[in-house]
Amino acid sequence: MDFDLSDEQLLVRDTAREFAEREVAPRARDNSRNEHFDHELVAKIAAQGYLGAIVPREYGGAGLDYVTYGLVVENVGRACSAMRTVISVQTSLVCSVIVTFGTEEQKHALLPRLCSGEILGCFALTEPDTGSDAANQKTRATRVDGGWRLNGSKMWISNGNVAKLALVFAQTDPSLGHKGLACFLVDTDQDGFVPSPIHGKMGMHAADTASIALDDCFVPDDMVLGEVGQGFKIAMTSLDSGRYSVAAGCVGICQGSLEESVKYAQERRQFDRPIASFQLVQAMIAEMRVKTDAARMLTLRAGWLKDQGRPNTTETSIAKLFATEAAVWCANEAIQVHGGAGYVDDHPVERYFRDSRVTTLYEGTSQIQKLIIGRAETGINAL
Ligand code: CAA
Repeated sequence: MDFDLSDEQLLVRDTAREFAEREVAPRARDNSRNEHFDHELVAKIAAQGYLGAIVPREYGGAGLDYVTYGLVVENVGRACSAMRTVISVQTSLVCSVIVTFGTEEQKHALLPRLCSGEILGCFALTEPDTGSDAANQKTRATRVDGGWRLNGSKMWISNGNVAKLALVFAQTDPSLGHKGLACFLVDTDQDGFVPSPIHGKMGMHAADTASIALDDCFVPDDMVLGEVGQGFKIAMTSLDSGRYSVAAGCVGICQGSLEESVKYAQERRQFDRPIASFQLVQAMIAEMRVKTDAARMLTLRAGWLKDQGRPNTTETSIAKLFATEAAVWCANEAIQVHGGAGYVDDHPVERYFRDSRVTTLYEGTSQIQKLIIGRAETGINAL
């Protein structure tokens, strides 16, 4: 067993950390305060190659392996989870499935533009009444001359207001259940595609989140991704990559919480000594370190399995479950180490806490991850 990263992986990781500290972290607080989706910063992230990190070079991507991609995502996530979400959605939920299921025409037409950041994509699976039960899509796709018309609504769609391309999942034949689903590559400038921003979120203020109304939105035949009937498989394949990316971003929150806590505990003095000298403070820091290490190792294992082309759905869910719960826990403890100072946004731990909270909800709740893991362990399709 080899726990060492290759020289190339170390170089990409260190470059990502340096980039995130120089470009991403300094803007994170103000972007969060102002609910600002920072297009300029997204362009810089794109210029680093991170929006197409795992896309093969022939389609304009960086051609990185999953382990290296995870290291990039971790370091951007440590600086700003909202910007990390942009990478996760673009790279994992959108690009990865176009690579797997797209025709050569679709790949050449879309991937270079997505990888370069010329256009953003979004993944429109969730609906107002369809969250965990993803197969139960209410959005309808009706066959018309030359293509399909989509009607329905989508909810909680990251990048939904800023995307030029939407992967929209819809039911073509309700009698077929999940085997009737299809995935459509929708140009968001089409009539009948109407996104609206969702405000009032607890965290991820600098990330874009939309509800989307689909009102007779036309999609031509050549913009069906994969086969009609393959939509559910495409959604699940996408989420296998997306959940890995969320896990990696949460390792970044854990790492950031740990580093900020150590720094603050060494500087802050009470009872004539640094609070780092108190055993109860060290206990919090020690537990943060353990959870950070465990989250990172579970995530890297899932990435390594992906790179080997081996089954990894269960291991990805294990990583997602553990890393997201650890991120919420570490961010909460980091606020405890900071005391009152951690309750305002002078320190990143306040944002870590708010931003981490959604990670146990989106791309499958912790309960859905447990369901997937429990099914794999028992062989019984429990609900
Ligand atoms: N890869 C490929 N295929 C898969 C798969 C995977 N990981 N998981 C399941 N499938 C296939 C199965 O093999 C099965 O295929 P067949 O019918 O050919 O046998 C089919 O899909 C149905 O599988 P299940 O019976 O397991 O399906 P289910 O209805 O019981 O659902 C579930 C399983 C795990 C609960 C799934 O519905 C699920 O993951 N739900 C959560 C959805 C989710 O994560 N939503 C978040 C949306 S994204 C988001 O958060 C917004 C954003 O913008 C970030």
